[in-house]
Amino acid sequence: MMNHSQSTGADYNYTIVRQFALTTVLWGIVGMSVGVLIAAQLIWPQLNFETPWLTYSRLRPLHTNAVIFAFGTSALFATSYYVVQRTCQVRLFAPKLAAFTFWGWQAVIIAAAITLPMGFTQGKEYAELEWPIDIAITIIWVSYAIVFFGTIAKRTTSHIYVANWFFGAFIITVAVLHIVNSMAVPVSLFKSYSLYSGAVDAMVQWWYGHNAVGFLLTAGFLGMMYYFVPKQAGRPVYSYRLSIVHFWALIALYIWAGPHHLHYTALPDWTQSLGMVMSLILFAPSWGGMINGIMTLSGAWHKLRTDPVLRFLVVSLSFYGMSTFEGPMMAIKTVNALSHYTDWTIGHVHSGALGWVAMVSIGSLYHLIPVLFGHGRMYSMKLINVHFWLATIGTVLYIVSMWISGVMQGLMWRAVNADGTLTYSFVESLEASYPFYFVRFIGGCFFLTGMFIMAYNVIRTVRASKDSLPAIAEA
Ligand code: HEM
Ligand code: HEM
Repeated sequence: MMNHSQSTGADYNYTIVRQFALTTVLWGIVGMSVGVLIAAQLIWPQLNFETPWLTYSRLRPLHTNAVIFAFGTSALFATSYYVVQRTCQVRLFAPKLAAFTFWGWQAVIIAAAITLPMGFTQGKEYAELEWPIDIAITIIWVSYAIVFFGTIAKRTTSHIYVANWFFGAFIITVAVLHIVNSMAVPVSLFKSYSLYSGAVDAMVQWWYGHNAVGFLLTAGFLGMMYYFVPKQAGRPVYSYRLSIVHFWALIALYIWAGPHHLHYTALPDWTQSLGMVMSLILFAPSWGGMINGIMTLSGAWHKLRTDPVLRFLVVSLSFYGMSTFEGPMMAIKTVNALSHYTDWTIGHVHSGALGWVAMVSIGSLYHLIPVLFGHGRMYSMKLINVHFWLATIGTVLYIVSMWISGVMQGLMWRAVNADGTLTYSFVESLEASYPFYFVRFIGGCFFLTGMFIMAYNVIRTVRASKDSLPAIAEA
């Protein structure tokens, strides 16, 4: 890990980092509140109040867009802008363009929050937003790339720290994925048709979908991990060499794995098998990265007892390891025959989303916010500890309940009587799922409560330091 002790924070553009850090907490609360609401609707459908814009079908994409693109991506903007400055030891390139990415991204989030409940959608998962918003995203994302790579180009350090490799790959790949998958023919301001059709459309969509997972929800957050875990542990990264192997292996493999989302479909059989094999191999670099992160603590394990921020970061890596073991298993065609369409997928998603993405972001923010706003300390370490337990218990309740209901659904759907008729009707499997939906709802409430506690802790930290900002720039 590089030594930044000589540099002072006053040299850096922290305004944009502060803005994105605060909006991460805000959008986290909004996105997860919608998650809790749709979790409740699956138990009590009347919670849509017979209002079109409150129906499950419209709120579900609002949830996924809010948590991935408002919460998660704001965390990535904040941390990448911070890390690239600190590790290159220069101010951000093109500060006005950087400010544009902040305000532009907020405008995109607001546009999504209005159009999705109104029912405007391209009908492609994680790429629902209609074409005018897609164009805006492209412009903002290219500006982001210019700011990020411009900063790298004018660095005063000789080499590029590995966190920036991951952030860089995330920025470039998301641009390519978004542009290719969003190609559409507009027929009006709010309606367009995909340029692709049939199986090709599905293939492009899941090439996009899986790599959004691989490069946004994984590579970007690995960039975060490679900076904040060593910083918080006060140790150099376990193996710099492993981090480079990890990077290239991950980049080379992820891009092929998309077809595991389309097993047993009209996609050519060989592409499904290729997707399965690549997913299985993907296990190796994923665990290489996890081990590299966790082993960074060697010699500093005792810190876990007293430092809840480090606990957030390490537990996030454990969930990362768990979901990247589970993913390759689910990519095996015979396993997918059971898991697909069931809650098992939803459990897998949230062990990655809550356990990895949200936890690593929360841990990084608890490190970052005192640097940006305080005297190096959050207002209350006790509250961080409470948040840690709420988040951990919430995640475990969520994923365990979904595993059980998922496997149960898969087994009930395939059970047949001696005469070949189905043993259970679909409604029977739904009835059996209700208790688990309730446990998931409680888990979601735990996680969301933790986010409110975080917001309180952040507000108190920001308030306490308002008068002394210039003096606290040094981390
Ligand atoms: C309080 C926390 C959360 C709750 C209660 C929650 C709840 C839900 C629910 C009920 C669904 C729909 C499941 C279904 O259709 O059967 C869902 C889907 C989804 N959520 Fe969350 N969620 C939470 C946090 C998050 C976070 C932080 C992320 C990402 C960073 C996330 C990403 C997703 C994704 C990607 C899907 C779609 C999964 C799929 O289509 O397979 N969620 N969530
Ligand atoms: C080696 C790593 C991974 C592999 C091989 C993998 C594999 C899979 C497989 C096979 C599915 C089920 C596809 C289906 O039946 O429809 C899936 C779904 C999903 N995974 Fe993973 N996974 C990995 C890691 C992750 C991580 C770390 C995250 C989140 C941060 C994640 C997020 C998702 C999402 C959001 C879906 C649901 C997509 C949808 O249908 O909407 N995955 N993954």
